[in-house]
Amino acid sequence: MIMWDEMDKCVKEWIEEAGERIKKSFLKQLTIETKSNRNDLVTDMDKETEQFFIKNINEKFPDHRILGEEGFGDSVEDTKGVLWIIDPIDGTMNFVHQQRNFAISIGIYENGVGRLGYIYDVVHNELYHAKKGEGAFMNDQKLPNLPSVALEDAVIALNALWLTTNKHMDSSKLVPLVRDVRAARSYGSAALEMAYVAAGRLDAYLTMRLAPWDFAAGKILIEEVGGVVTNLKGESLDVVRKDSVFVGKPTLHQDILQRYLT
Ligand code: IPD
Ligand code: CA
Ligand code: CA
Repeated sequence: MIMWDEMDKCVKEWIEEAGERIKKSFLKQLTIETKSNRNDLVTDMDKETEQFFIKNINEKFPDHRILGEEGFGDSVEDTKGVLWIIDPIDGTMNFVHQQRNFAISIGIYENGVGRLGYIYDVVHNELYHAKKGEGAFMNDQKLPNLPSVALEDAVIALNALWLTTNKHMDSSKLVPLVRDVRAARSYGSAALEMAYVAAGRLDAYLTMRLAPWDFAAGKILIEEVGGVVTNLKGESLDVVRKDSVFVGKPTLHQDILQRYLT
């Protein structure tokens, strides 16, 4: 039998401890390396934080599998069993340059179904969390179901890069969208942007390409408050594959999909 409540208690303790370690790291010199390109950063704290979670999970739940961004977990190709999907620091660029606007993101799935989701904004001490069927919360505050919003009143998030020529989509399609909504924002952390959609601070977020660890927790949170989570074609996401991501309030999601993305 899977002990969801016990897992929930453990994750919250581990997240708090990891957050403290990350805050302490602000006082010391980080080791910063690049990955796929000069703007794709990784620090010793990204690696240490992932290893911290993996050690704890392996000790406490040895039969669970782990997919972690920094590669210290298992090699995962399918969604069988209990799968932890971890981004130790989402928004590493912000972590390095700003020491804010980054988050720890953990989604826990059972046979592909999202069960527990956590996005922890370390600096603001805001833990967004959800348990399937029991609602989503920001710290102790229950998040209400998402109301509908008209496109002209909507605040959406997207990376300005997608308005420039790119290999993923015809960027000119997004220009009228940005013009028609009330405002467009960009926070530089997909996990936080998804948490903000769940909390109603943003009405929609779209992006051309994310990895499972970027969206695994956010998908659980948003669906728990009645939001819609798809790729840019309106198809459901596979939690072990990279894809474009488009999340938002239900009617707004449909409206944007029909008017700007098809
Ligand atoms: C990145 C952030 C960023 C998104 C990138 C991600 P990382 O994650 O979520 O907002 O635009 O696609 O890779 O590398 O900071 O964990
Ligand atoms: Ca990430
Ligand atoms: Ca990361």
